[in-house]
Amino acid sequence: MASAGQRPTRQSGANALLDLQGVGRTVLIVQGCPMQPILEITGLGKTYASGQVALADVDLTIQKGEIFALLGPNGAGKTTLIGAVCGLVKPTSGTIRAFGCDLATDWRAARARIGLVPQELATDMFAYVGKAVEYSRGLFGRAPDPARIEEVLRSLSLWDKRDSRINALSGGMKRRVLIAKALAHDPDLLFLDEPTAGVDVELRRDMWDQIGRLRDSGVTVILTTHYIEEAEEMADRIGIIDKGRLKLVENKTALIDRLGRMEAHIGLAQPMAEVPPALAGFHLDLLNGGSTLCYHAESLEDRHTGLARLVQLLTHQNVGFTTIDVKQSSLEDIFVRLIDGAAA
Ligand SMILES: Nc1ncnc2c1ncn2[C@@H]1O[C@H](COP(=O)(O)OP(=O)(O)OP(=O)(O)O)[C@@H](O)[C@H]1O
Ligand SMILES: [Mg+2]
Repeated sequence: MASAGQRPTRQSGANALLDLQGVGRTVLIVQGCPMQPILEITGLGKTYASGQVALADVDLTIQKGEIFALLGPNGAGKTTLIGAVCGLVKPTSGTIRAFGCDLATDWRAARARIGLVPQELATDMFAYVGKAVEYSRGLFGRAPDPARIEEVLRSLSLWDKRDSRINALSGGMKRRVLIAKALAHDPDLLFLDEPTAGVDVELRRDMWDQIGRLRDSGVTVILTTHYIEEAEEMADRIGIIDKGRLKLVENKTALIDRLGRMEAHIGLAQPMAEVPPALAGFHLDLLNGGSTLCYHAESLEDRHTGLARLVQLLTHQNVGFTTIDVKQSSLEDIFVRLIDGAAA
């Protein structure tokens, strides 16, 4: 599993923008000009014929150039939401505007600018890789561009496979073809529905690089993933959906700051029978028969300065310690707590 710590977290333009999510409103400003949203979803609902409510009253605004990760457990409504924007699912209620066009009345113009890497492998398995990718470009009314097709195929290590039939490829390679098809018409808004499910570490890294390059070239990306560290690595903003309802939309860094926790395990030189009264101001537990002092920091201030204050006090109290092991919550910890309803 790739760790976020091995790769620098990229700071996007979108991150540098003014984010007022915390006060109930997001305003993104570049050089004094408010940005146009690329996608505005209002009151979106979808109830399937079976009576299954897949989406209920979803409001979501996506700004140009951001990477948005939509997270949620199986059956939460992620694919339905993407399907509604891509014209594959007919909403029961609500409106979707993409590039300023209402998709209910004016979807053709917007659709040509949207790319989708679907969750399910649904493509003509007997087609040849190169031809299938070329065809996808033509389907969206783009002029043939063999150099661009070669670039896309090479970037996904598919160039050598261009004359193979898709059904002769491995599962991960088939997924690469879906990605190549979605990129072939140079969409401005790209949906990736679990693009790295069941693929090897190398493709996952290639995907991350691809997404980074796309963002750098101004493409807006909305992805779903069950690999939370992928969202932690890539996304500017996170949305959490559960049982068809969008529970939270927040800037990733702000979310981790707001709901993150820190735990420090301090290995003591001499076991303690109980926490000394002088340390009463800290949230502490004794573990391992009194040989480990466990410090829990929840507020932002405690996470930033609490451990230093505690260590100073231990030294002042002549409490010897040999190790300090610090664990910060990951986005995954926060996600699990939110889905369990423990945090909001
Ligand atoms: N074509 C359909 N007909 C009836 N119900 C459907 C259909 N497609 C999805 N559903 C139901 O709608 C709900 C949301 O499904 P959806 O595929 O959007 O979830 P998801 O968040 O993408 O899940 P996963 O993480 O498993 O891909 C589920 O209860 C699912 O069973
Ligand atoms: Mg899905």
